[in-house]
Amino acid sequence: MSGIRGGMSGLSGLKAVVTGGASGIGLATSRMLAEQGATVAVIDLDPFGVPEPLIALQADLRDDASVCAAVEAAAGQLGGLDILVNNAGIGAVGTVEDNPDEEWHRVLDVNVLGTVRTTRAALPYLRRSSHAAVVNTCSIAATAGLPQRALYSAGKGAVLSLTLAMAADHVREGIRVNCVNPGTADTPWVTRLLDAADDPEAERAALDARQPLGRLVTADEVAAAVVYLASPAAGSVTGIALAVDGGMQGLRLRPAAGA
Ligand SMILES: NC(=O)c1ccc[n+]([C@@H]2O[C@H](COP(=O)([O-])OP(=O)(O)OC[C@H]3O[C@@H](n4cnc5c(N)ncnc54)[C@H](O)[C@@H]3O)[C@@H](O)[C@H]2O)c1
Repeated sequence: MSGIRGGMSGLSGLKAVVTGGASGIGLATSRMLAEQGATVAVIDLDPFGVPEPLIALQADLRDDASVCAAVEAAAGQLGGLDILVNNAGIGAVGTVEDNPDEEWHRVLDVNVLGTVRTTRAALPYLRRSSHAAVVNTCSIAATAGLPQRALYSAGKGAVLSLTLAMAADHVREGIRVNCVNPGTADTPWVTRLLDAADDPEAERAALDARQPLGRLVTADEVAAAVVYLASPAAGSVTGIALAVDGGMQGLRLRPAAGA
């Protein structure tokens, strides 16, 4: 008999924390985890609009004390912790010449150190779980050279390497660590980028065309991959990066006929 609670994909009885769970990929993930039976706490800069039954906890991932307090509150309210989704992140645009040191520190502080702080705070609880899983939201930017994303890519490259190192460090404690690598996903983040473009329609068409499937990834498609990696159904999966990118990393197409 399988020891999986609630069936192959069921998350019944499991307790999850999602950072950046108030918007986009994080909100879709939080909802899907809850739909599959997990109890879910969202840690976000501004979590107060999250729908029931999600538990809202405010924290700034740049502040270790704030992260520790939120993770402790989450574990207290949930009665433990089985799943940690390190998803919160911020963007940066530019070549290596463009971003001042202050911006490098700020973006890496959220995107890399935020993951470190939350995981560090969660590990004592995860060690007590028999279905412990960490899933990091990485990016296609970690595995492909994208123009104008030097700082953002450096941070996501660090998240990819950190995922592998953490998977090795904690495998014998029964804690699995994986990441998802989304392509460009249709979230409020990308809406903000498009709004800031000179020609938003042309920019959207260029982003759609860059992915072989010809469209942006949806937040739910990324969420489904995160939920799989977080679930007991992925009990033999650790140290992997699951691309959800419309074929962007793996495929090399010839131009479409007539294009
Ligand atoms: N949208 C994309 O195309 C795309 C592609 C690849 C990877 N990603 C990654 O997916 C993740 C989520 O992106 P999204 O598109 O859903 O973005 P989003 O802007 O819709 O959501 C990000 C959430 O993180 C929270 N957040 C930001 N800084 C924080 C901080 N210091 N402390 C706590 N919370 C903070 C925000 O309040 C927000 O709710 C990010 O890590 C991003 O790098 C996004």
